[in-house]
Amino acid sequence: MKTVTLSTLQAHKRAGEAFSCLTAYDTTFAHAASDAGIEVLLVGDSLGMVLQGHSSTLPVTLDDMRYHTRCVARGKGASLLMVDLPFMSNATTERLLEDAGELMRAGAEMIKVEGEAWMAEGVRELTRRGVPVCAHLGLTPQTVHQLGGYKVQGRDADQATRILEDARRLVEAGASVILLECVPASLGRAVTEALDVPVIGIGAGPDTDGQILVMHDMLGVTPGRSPRFVKNFMAEADDIADAFRRYHEAVKARRFPAEEHCF
Ligand code: KIV
Ligand code: NA
Repeated sequence: MKTVTLSTLQAHKRAGEAFSCLTAYDTTFAHAASDAGIEVLLVGDSLGMVLQGHSSTLPVTLDDMRYHTRCVARGKGASLLMVDLPFMSNATTERLLEDAGELMRAGAEMIKVEGEAWMAEGVRELTRRGVPVCAHLGLTPQTVHQLGGYKVQGRDADQATRILEDARRLVEAGASVILLECVPASLGRAVTEALDVPVIGIGAGPDTDGQILVMHDMLGVTPGRSPRFVKNFMAEADDIADAFRRYHEAVKARRFPAEEHCF
């Protein structure tokens, strides 16, 4: 695979070619995912749940994110490395810039932030300093306690309009990518069509430009019932490398997500 950059993702968007993204937390799995052709690796703060055993992403620290970013950076190959800012890194613009700077120094090539239109100022300041931003909307796990649980967002028309408006404002402020989590497929499509920037979805239907899953979920090793949008790619695979390839190919061919994975 040729080195994936923001320009690559923009070209995929223009060409209507889907791209695959997967979380990664260490060198070995990052290497396998990159070898499988997965375009974007995300050091997600989901590591608080799948690695650390917390019931939410809130306990994850900047040090945790920096450690895993360094680990993944050494195995990322040609994939683009996106990294989450942890809970409360957006407490002030100053802290946002400092924390994002630390993660970029650790090897991040794009920073993902949760937050609605009010994050526009922070997004603008990051972008001005050369930090590409992915804005995460819809179900934002860092606000789980305010949302009252991990629930589908944007089901009613007002909520859907608001999410689309937030996405527009964040792109105006400089966001290079939008990520939508757990929204109806119709909203996933509307946001993707309305914006010129690449839109990545998880539980956001088949029409977003990119798809992402948490690695442990798509390998079928996360304990308990998995969310509707997850598919276990290990079920038919020979080994983990094969599961990554099958996921990548299914996304490229727009065979994943299928209707049963959508809201
Ligand atoms: O932390 C994470 O893994 C994420 C993805 C689920 C989008 O934010
Ligand atoms: Na996250």
